[in-house]
Amino acid sequence: MNAWHKVFLATLAASAAALAAIAANALDNGLARTPPMGWNSWNSFHCEVSAALVEATADAMVASGMKDAGYTYVNIDDCWLLRQRGPHGELVPDPAKFPQGIQAVADYVHGKGLKLGLYESAGTTTCADYPGSLGHERQDAEQFARWGVDYLKYDNCGDHQGRTYVQRYTAMRDALAYSGRSIVYSICEWGNEAPWRWAPAIGNLWRTTQDITPRWSTDQPDNRYPQGILDILDQQAGLSGTSHPGAWNDPDMLEVGNGYLTDDENRAHFSLWALLNAPLIAGNDLRHMPDEVRGILTNRDVIAVDQDWGGRQGYKVRDDGATEVWAKPMSDGSVAVVLLNRGRGPVEIATTAQEVGMKATDGYTVRDLWKHADAASDGRIAASVPTHAVAMFRVWPGARRAGGQ
Ligand code: GLA
Repeated sequence: MNAWHKVFLATLAASAAALAAIAANALDNGLARTPPMGWNSWNSFHCEVSAALVEATADAMVASGMKDAGYTYVNIDDCWLLRQRGPHGELVPDPAKFPQGIQAVADYVHGKGLKLGLYESAGTTTCADYPGSLGHERQDAEQFARWGVDYLKYDNCGDHQGRTYVQRYTAMRDALAYSGRSIVYSICEWGNEAPWRWAPAIGNLWRTTQDITPRWSTDQPDNRYPQGILDILDQQAGLSGTSHPGAWNDPDMLEVGNGYLTDDENRAHFSLWALLNAPLIAGNDLRHMPDEVRGILTNRDVIAVDQDWGGRQGYKVRDDGATEVWAKPMSDGSVAVVLLNRGRGPVEIATTAQEVGMKATDGYTVRDLWKHADAASDGRIAASVPTHAVAMFRVWPGARRAGGQ
C-alpha cells in the first residue's frame, strides 16, 4: 500500500465515522410517516383529565367513525400525575383521576385498536406545575414504555437548569430510543427557537407557535384569547420546505368544534391544517359531538390531503390581503388548493392550474372536497367563498383516473 492509499483509507474511515455520528444524532424511529391523527385532552378539558374521560373518548373515537377515518392516538395532556415524585423518584399518576394507573388505561385504549399518548415537560415542572422530566429522562421514558405509552408530547415549562433546547429535547429522544418501545415524539417548545431548523433530527413533530385558541383571529373584539386560527396560519407561511415524512411542523391541536368557531370557520381550520400536513389531533369533546362537527373531522377527501404519502407541505401561493390562495402538491400529480376568505362578506376568489404549479394541458378535473363533486375545467379554479370560510379543491390534469382519491 503506498502513501496515497493510506491517506485514502484514512479519509474513508474518518468519513464513515462522521456519517455514523450524524446518524446517531438523527431521529430514525420509523414513526409518523404521515402526520399523526388522534385526540388530546387539553383544548377542551385542561386539567380535568381522568381514566373515565380517556376511555369514553376512545369509545367515541370508534363509534363516531373517527377511527375508521384514520384517528389513532388518544392523548392525555397535563395534570395526570401527583405533585410529587414517589419514593424511588418515579412519576405517580393521580389515583383520584387514574385509580388503576396509566397501564390500565393503555390496555383499554389498545383493546379498541387505538394508541395512548401522555404528556411531560423538558424542565423541572410541567406548565400546570407538576414534576417535569428534566434530569429524569431515562427513568421516565422507561416508565412510559412499561405502561404501554405510544406517543409523548414533551412541553417546555419549568426551569431548564441552563440546558439548551437541543440538549433537553435530545436527552428525551435518546431515552425514548433506549426504552425500546416505539413512541411518537412530539416536541412542544412553542416555536421559540425556530424548531424547524433543529427539531427534524430530534422529534417526529414540533410546535411552531404559542398555544392555539378557539377563535378566528385577534381582529375580533373579544381579547380573552391571544391567538386565533388566522394568527397561527400566518406563522406557517415559509415553513413548507422544513417538514418531511416522519418530521412535521405542528401548528397546534385542532379547535374544530370548540369555542367561538362557526361551521364555516371549523371547515376552514380543518382544510388549512390538512393542507399544511399538520398533525390532526382533535381537541373537542368527542363524547358529545354535533353531527356537523363529526362530519368535518371525518371528511375523507380532506384527510387524504393531509395523509398523502409524499408529505409535501402546502404553501401560500398568493396573498391579496382579505383573500389568500394556498396549494399543496400531491404525490399522484394532483394539487390540493384552498381559497381562503379571511374577511366579512362573500367574495369571488379565483386561481388557475398554472398558478398552483401545474403544467399546461388540455383540461383538468376539479374536485370540490367539501361538496364531494367533480367538474371539468379549462384550468380556472374559482368559487364564491362566504365570510370566514374556504373552498377546497383537488385538481388533476386531464380526466380523473378511476378509483383515484
Ligand atoms: C402548554 C402547551 C399546551 C398544553 C399546556 C398544558 O401551554 O403549549 O399545549 O400542553 O401547556 O399545561
